[in-house]
Amino acid sequence: MLDGLKRLEYRGYDSSGLIVATNKGFEQVKRTGRVVNLEEALDELQYGGNLGISHTRWATHGDVTEANAHPHTSSDGKISLVHNGVIENYVGMKQFLEKKGYTFQSETDSEALSNLIAYHYAKEGRASGKNPFLEAVRKSLRHVEGTYGIAVVCPDFPLELIGARKGSPLIIGIGKDENLIASDVNAITHCTQNVVYLNDNEVVHMTNADFSITTVSSKNVEAVIHKVDWDTSAAELGDYSHFMEKEIFEQPVSLQNGMRGRFSDDSSTAVFGGLNLNSQELRQIDRILFLACGTAWHACLVAEYLIERFARIPVEVEYASEFRYRNAPLDKNTLVIAISQSGETIDTLGALREAKRKGYRTLAINNSVGSTIARESDGGIYQHAGPEIGVASTKAFTSQIMICAMLALYLGRLRDLSYEDGIQIVKALRGVPEQVGQILQQNEAIAAVAKKYAKYEDCLFLGRQLMFPIALEGALKLKEISYIHAEGYPAAEMKHGPIALICENCPSVFLATSGEIFQKSLANVQEVKARKGKVICIATEGCEIPDNLVDDIIRVPECHEIVKPILMSIPIQLFSYHVALERGCDVDKPRNLAKSVTVE
Ligand code: G6P
Repeated sequence: MLDGLKRLEYRGYDSSGLIVATNKGFEQVKRTGRVVNLEEALDELQYGGNLGISHTRWATHGDVTEANAHPHTSSDGKISLVHNGVIENYVGMKQFLEKKGYTFQSETDSEALSNLIAYHYAKEGRASGKNPFLEAVRKSLRHVEGTYGIAVVCPDFPLELIGARKGSPLIIGIGKDENLIASDVNAITHCTQNVVYLNDNEVVHMTNADFSITTVSSKNVEAVIHKVDWDTSAAELGDYSHFMEKEIFEQPVSLQNGMRGRFSDDSSTAVFGGLNLNSQELRQIDRILFLACGTAWHACLVAEYLIERFARIPVEVEYASEFRYRNAPLDKNTLVIAISQSGETIDTLGALREAKRKGYRTLAINNSVGSTIARESDGGIYQHAGPEIGVASTKAFTSQIMICAMLALYLGRLRDLSYEDGIQIVKALRGVPEQVGQILQQNEAIAAVAKKYAKYEDCLFLGRQLMFPIALEGALKLKEISYIHAEGYPAAEMKHGPIALICENCPSVFLATSGEIFQKSLANVQEVKARKGKVICIATEGCEIPDNLVDDIIRVPECHEIVKPILMSIPIQLFSYHVALERGCDVDKPRNLAKSVTVE
């Protein structure tokens, strides 16, 4: 369980706990802080057993305390559970249970569910001939409003484990003489590669030898077993200091893997296996709506530029969390595309479901095979970037852009994009892994630049057109791992507000690429310089930058327009990484953040 928790720690890391069925009964341990604190406590306690549940928490209700850490045990000691998600009606539940004599030790919503299951368990008795533990879980879940992925144990059934999901992910791992439940395949690939993806409103009941799935309303469900072919070492650190560093350096390979087998024989277009839309249907699409959160949302903004430019289809980009409640009118020929590394972000999933409910065709671009978003969309494209563990997304971001560039090419070639243009684009995309490798060789030089700027508390990232989303991503990367206040702006728009921040202590990172508007970008650099702002310029080789205009310059190879956003992303990732290291920050587990956000 500790191995599994460590592999899942990127989903939450403010406290952790577990409960084990030992030969002296159920024993529980909780600790605040990282999983290593729990591990140290367990080293002393020397617990052993064959069944247990564990959890690493990202606080939603209540402070980071041992009392609020999971597992939560009912006040009669009969039910313990770990829970991801939010029980929205827990206040009413709690009031009801208090009247029935149940007491509460934590401020969490999860504890209400453990007491509710205990209440139903006490009422159930053994008379019905059914398993009272399983009956109690199912009955309780019928009263839950909100989301849950739960694992539940009961000391009266020390060989049995129950799991259930609604909204939050849960998978079953089928091992040799052992069965497992986890909220992510990463947690169990070192034990088994055979998994069953549980669907919403399903409950699994298991022992080490067997398992069965029913719905919350007690209908039997047939399990479909999938094989996860992830290389388990891909989720391990190897010789790197941090996952973020490892994942930045993996990009030549992850980008190559995203392209593998996806170009036509004549190398003039892309081919995708799983769109589930034929060419005729795709030609009828007259608008594309992209939905995502966080870094994936920035990839959508890049997609907007690329698809509008190369395929001439109007594109809109929405934050998934806004779209799902906004009831936006959409044209019937709109294609909805959700981008999500994890495929589990609850807002992206909610927005996708809302689009499906209204009858729109949906596609997903995501990195986690078998994730909920992948399964629920009508078709999709896997990124094949390999597991991303660092909370700050790096290789998943560039791989999302790569997929979107290929999609722009594919859609363009179904419309007006010429054969010759297609050939040029495929050539450019194929050259990306090598060019990324060249940029990575500048790691030490970029680290030296980062060292100079790590002391400042504010930073602007400025770019125009395709570089605007990269400026946003640069600012996000820096702020999330180094806690420096950073803003991304379209370089010209900077004059309408952020320019007020510019002074000797607020440096700007300019993203300048060759092309028609390079001179205009340069004019924006002049405006910053005139106000004593320090300037770090990331520029393609082709840009001529006058001496003394910038304080530091990082070059990326000259390249086709379509690949600029990928190449320009590498220096901002390395810059942020080194600034954060310089400031002594925990790069892989930045404060307050979680990698996979499965609550609204
Ligand atoms: C969190 C992560 C980000 C990620 C975002 C969306 O905020 O820290 O790195 O971009 O969620 O996640 P998704 O899995 O949907 O791409």
